[in-house]
Amino acid sequence: MDVRSALRQATARLRAGGVPSHTLAAELLLMHVLGRDRAWLYTHPEEFVEASAAERYFDLVARRIAGVPTQYLTGKQEFWGLEFEVCPGVLIPRPETEHVMEAALERLGPAKSRRTLRGADVGTGSGCLAVALACELPEAGIVATDISPVALEVARRNAARHGVAARIEFVQCNLLDAFLGQPLATRLPRAESRGHSPLAFDLIVSNPPYVAHSEAATLPREVGEHEPAQALFGGEGGNDVYPPLVVQAEKLLAPGGVLVLELSYNAFAHVRALLAAADTWTRVAVTHDLAGIPRVLAAERV
Ligand SMILES: C[S@@+](CC[C@H](N)C(=O)[O-])C[C@H]1O[C@@H](n2cnc3c(N)ncnc32)[C@H](O)[C@@H]1O
Repeated sequence: MDVRSALRQATARLRAGGVPSHTLAAELLLMHVLGRDRAWLYTHPEEFVEASAAERYFDLVARRIAGVPTQYLTGKQEFWGLEFEVCPGVLIPRPETEHVMEAALERLGPAKSRRTLRGADVGTGSGCLAVALACELPEAGIVATDISPVALEVARRNAARHGVAARIEFVQCNLLDAFLGQPLATRLPRAESRGHSPLAFDLIVSNPPYVAHSEAATLPREVGEHEPAQALFGGEGGNDVYPPLVVQAEKLLAPGGVLVLELSYNAFAHVRALLAAADTWTRVAVTHDLAGIPRVLAAERV
């Protein structure tokens, strides 16, 4: 069988199996099996695909039709132009989470190159936000927390893959519990603490679990049956994590420090009210995603 026939057959099976973006899935799986990029596939349509490779390919196609996300089959997903390892047990980074990066970098502005900059990523998952931030902020020290040991292992490997492991401290804890009442300067590797409060972060970002349990049945099969529940669900109404996270951010951010949160489709009013009630936040703003949903909230600690 040649490359063109393999792609055609796989695309037809994926389409018949109701897989969304079936052509893309067929390409990504064949790229993975052959260790080639898309340009190679389309410039070598008559190249012979060995029987063993074809067998592996159509096995992956069958698993994709059975609902396994393509990224769990290939073991990777791109985020912020960087390739991240993913596996079951770790949320697949989503494109809309790149708005968290954009909002954080925009708010930091000239502070981006400061040697004392300290950030936190709460619920790091694959480590996509912590690693992308460390790449963008070459002088910063970052802490990345998660309750999932599997996620933290994958995040550590992603940090090493992108050469930023020495500037990210990975901590297994609830939200930022491990840092409450602790002098952060003693905990952050390589983060210079000179002239800076030892008790404060300059930036806290989070894409917390925010799907409502009551909406579990509406999730696509790929998500509901394959991605980790603790990465998805934020309680019955979905908004359980925001109140404690905002309280901790209020305690742990330095004056002028920036909080950036990804929001569920209906969380903006709820989180804005939380910030308004605290009376310690300013410059609250929202970024809409490509679907027009208020997706990312940014605010500054007074
Ligand atoms: C929506 S995922 C986000 C993962 C990653 N930051 C991203 O954007 O792809 C939420 C992550 O938060 C973690 N998590 C859930 N509850 C947590 C808690 N109470 N404290 C810390 N991490 C938590 C989950 O294990 C999961 O990795």
